[in-house]
Amino acid sequence: MDFKALATKRYSVRKFSREPVTAAELQAVLLAGRIAPTAANRQPQRVLVLTEEEGLKKLDACTSCRFGAPAALIVFFDRDAPWARPFDGERSGWVDASIVTDHMMMQAADLGLGSTWVMHFDPAKVMELFQVPETLVPVAVLPLGHPAADAEPSDRHALRLGETETIFYNGF
Ligand SMILES: Cc1cc2nc3c(=O)[nH]c(=O)nc-3n(C[C@H](O)[C@H](O)[C@H](O)COP(=O)(O)O)c2cc1C
Repeated sequence: MDFKALATKRYSVRKFSREPVTAAELQAVLLAGRIAPTAANRQPQRVLVLTEEEGLKKLDACTSCRFGAPAALIVFFDRDAPWARPFDGERSGWVDASIVTDHMMMQAADLGLGSTWVMHFDPAKVMELFQVPETLVPVAVLPLGHPAADAEPSDRHALRLGETETIFYNGF
């Protein structure tokens, strides 16, 4: 599938079948995250992989947005690791972790897996329940699984702002 077709096909999947994610599928998704670009190649992302019931139940205590997926990833960055822009000290952790997450989401879609980028989680609960080292910042949860036979895009999927509302040529 070419990129345009893949990007057009992807949507936020919020209903999953019971079919497990295979080890090969999971490895492919994780590799896509590892080869993603990060500022100065600092690779500050840390990815927690949840494939067992115990961890998935804990995740359910942090968010209502697992949607019954048989696997999930929690993407963090280590606040000690990212690059800092010399002009103002702005650090790249959120951006780096987001690019990693997007790569993994697109790889999942290419494999026919479903996922949804989830930010609606309680970060303090994530830190506590998963005993996360305190330098890590949770950025995104990615439920992962095979879409249910009747999974379909939400109404929001088709709603995109007009070109002139988001793209500006040669000045605003
Ligand atoms: C940063 C970010 C945070 C999001 N958080 C959530 C979330 O917590 N729960 C959820 O169901 N969807 C979440 N989404 C999915 C968006 O609602 C979805 O991408 C958007 O409505 C467009 O729909 P589509 O992904 O089907 O094209 C999030 C997406 C992004 C990029």
